Amino acid sequence: MKPIYLDYNATTPVDPEVAEAMLPYLTEHFGNPSSSHWYGKQASKAVETARGQVAELINAATDEIIFTGGGSEANNLAIKGYAAASREKGNHIITSSIEHPAVLEVCKDLETRGYRITHLLVNEFGIINLHDLEKAIIPGTILITIMHANNEVGTIQPVSAIGRIARDKNIAFHTDAAQSVGKIPVDINDLQVDMLSIAGHKLYAPKGVGALYVRRGTNLHKQIHGAAQEFNLRAGTENVPEIVGLGKACEIMKRDKQKNMRHMLQCREQLYKGLKAGIQNIKLNGHTEKRLPNTLNTSFPGVKASTILSSMTDVAASAGAACHSDHIDISHVLKAMNLSPEIAMGTIRFSVGKTTTHDDIEKAVNIIVNTVNQLSGKSIKH
Ligand SMILES: Cc1ncc(COP(=O)(O)O)c(C=O)c1O
Repeated sequence: MKPIYLDYNATTPVDPEVAEAMLPYLTEHFGNPSSSHWYGKQASKAVETARGQVAELINAATDEIIFTGGGSEANNLAIKGYAAASREKGNHIITSSIEHPAVLEVCKDLETRGYRITHLLVNEFGIINLHDLEKAIIPGTILITIMHANNEVGTIQPVSAIGRIARDKNIAFHTDAAQSVGKIPVDINDLQVDMLSIAGHKLYAPKGVGALYVRRGTNLHKQIHGAAQEFNLRAGTENVPEIVGLGKACEIMKRDKQKNMRHMLQCREQLYKGLKAGIQNIKLNGHTEKRLPNTLNTSFPGVKASTILSSMTDVAASAGAACHSDHIDISHVLKAMNLSPEIAMGTIRFSVGKTTTHDDIEKAVNIIVNTVNQLSGKSIKH
């Protein structure tokens, strides 16, 4: 029996409809989209269809979507590409202290090349303060990059309000939406963003494909040089099967969004209620309402998350961010939210998906409750 998968923020399985849509592009439609013959045209038509599907999900225009090799690459292109194109205007970038490494490390790299970075702090729920943002803006500020939803605790930032501030001050605004696209509505006009990153494997498309939305008129320098694919912003023969997969995943997401959101929320609440009923002193991390409907980040005081996870091999979840699940340094997100080291050490992220069942959750609750209570030497709470 396979473990119950409660780690959908780490990655999702490829939707069978997505896999089916991709298959012909691995076999019969193998052409290079740049070729002018029939084979090339089949491939380039498929890439353009996918571009339309991605654009439609986030209310963008087709020519505002650049395909990339994933969420990290989209963030690199947005931040480094915009910084390079705006060097004359200034060298100051504002971000938050709870970004994914795919933003934090990009900013660190820019720091070594003469850019100045301000990291905004967050409150106990993981939300930035808009006054702090306004105060951080200086004449040389060129870019604000703040994530839409956090991968560890699921907290959703006030992105529309950030966008309004950025627009007022004539500063570009990028948001890393790797975790929000597919889980909550994402509309680039409501959010008032100039750039937005998407990661395919978080929304039932394959790993290694993503997209960057770039508002018309936003000037970027390409980061991968070569031929002129992707509006001359990302060189390399297009990854046609995966791009087709990402497009299909976006189409499915648009169709099933409401149903998926409702289902994930029900599963997550079932999980939380079950854990609360069976375990004493469990602590919820992240905002109670402004949070992804699938994410439950909880601390079990007095027990180590790594011990819990290794003792319950029938449940797959994650201690801290999935990217570093082999070691449990206290995550920078929990630190920024001011969790004490003792509490942070006992923190697990559970994240449900559209294919999670209520039966899965019922079984998982039993396993988690028994494991935590055994490890903490407590009997089951009544
Ligand atoms: C918020 C966030 N940004 C970016 C990424 C990186 O995306 P990818 O794995 O497609 O490079 C992730 C993946 O963990 C993420 O959660």
